[in-house]
Amino acid sequence: MNQTKTDKNLFQPGDLALLIDRKARRYMITLADGETYHCHLGRLEHDQLIGGSIGGWYRTDKSHVLLAVRPTLGDFVRQMPRGPQIIYPKDLGNIVNLADIFPGATVVEGGLGSGALTAALLRAVGSTGRVINYEIDETVLPKAKRNIERVIPDVSNLEIKIGNIYEGISERGVDRVVLDVPEPWHAIPGIADALTMGGILLSFVPTILQVQRLVLALQEDGRFQMVESLETLLRTWHVTERSVRPDHRMVAHSGFLTTAVRCEPRPSGRVRSEIGPETESQPEPPEDDLPQEPE
Ligand SMILES: C[S@@+](CC[C@H](N)C(=O)[O-])C[C@H]1O[C@@H](n2cnc3c(N)ncnc32)[C@H](O)[C@@H]1O
Repeated sequence: MNQTKTDKNLFQPGDLALLIDRKARRYMITLADGETYHCHLGRLEHDQLIGGSIGGWYRTDKSHVLLAVRPTLGDFVRQMPRGPQIIYPKDLGNIVNLADIFPGATVVEGGLGSGALTAALLRAVGSTGRVINYEIDETVLPKAKRNIERVIPDVSNLEIKIGNIYEGISERGVDRVVLDVPEPWHAIPGIADALTMGGILLSFVPTILQVQRLVLALQEDGRFQMVESLETLLRTWHVTERSVRPDHRMVAHSGFLTTAVRCEPRPSGRVRSEIGPETESQPEPPEDDLPQEPE
């Protein structure tokens, strides 16, 4: 096959490479001309990988063989330098999905931390969207920015504001708000002002007491409907010819996701569609008669 220097099958200088040993242990490196990676398995010259195949096998000077691939965003998040607690990859996927983060969206995020969630949001909004992050602690910025820039080539659509998101959000017409802050209920009035009608709030919190306080505060505010809370349990499986069983280890708990949709407050009287003789004294349908989701 005719392979050029820009061939996407080959590692380039500056690429991240994920090295995997025979015990499935993982090591992540950024490739640079002339550099050497050292570990207990020996030395590996970066130049062996640069220009070499992604998905290829490479031998250290102690004759250990390592598989080298590109890390996914989830791989990167697991390996990246951390300050504050990150959001685990199992939750990142559900956050993007349940908050319905779409290309071109304007997203306000509360809490930068180590930048894992910000990177996932930037990927999902793409080059036509924006992420505006409110972070109260300036000291987390350098590490978070380095992490984000290692996986997002162009961060010109990321704005980081040093500030307390509980004190309000200056943006208006925001499509989505995603929070990873300890007391999200304090941010609700500002979020309701900032979100577009039908816009979605998603909040990640580690304890169920925080979930309850958040949900009660959303109900009290009255400008949010369709409030739902859930957690993600992800169990991987060990599959060989002789045995098929769940893996012994899993991340049993990370946190809870709560979503809510910005709506008009519920009217105290009957709403327009309820007015009329045919709906006046309709009993609630029994559970079995409720419309079923299509298969
Ligand atoms: C758990 S960390 C966020 C981790 C991040 N989601 C990640 O994936 O790397 C929480 C962050 O929220 C910030 N924070 C806490 N209270 C805040 C507030 N009121 N306004 C803005 N940021 C806040 C903290 O300084 C911290 O950096």
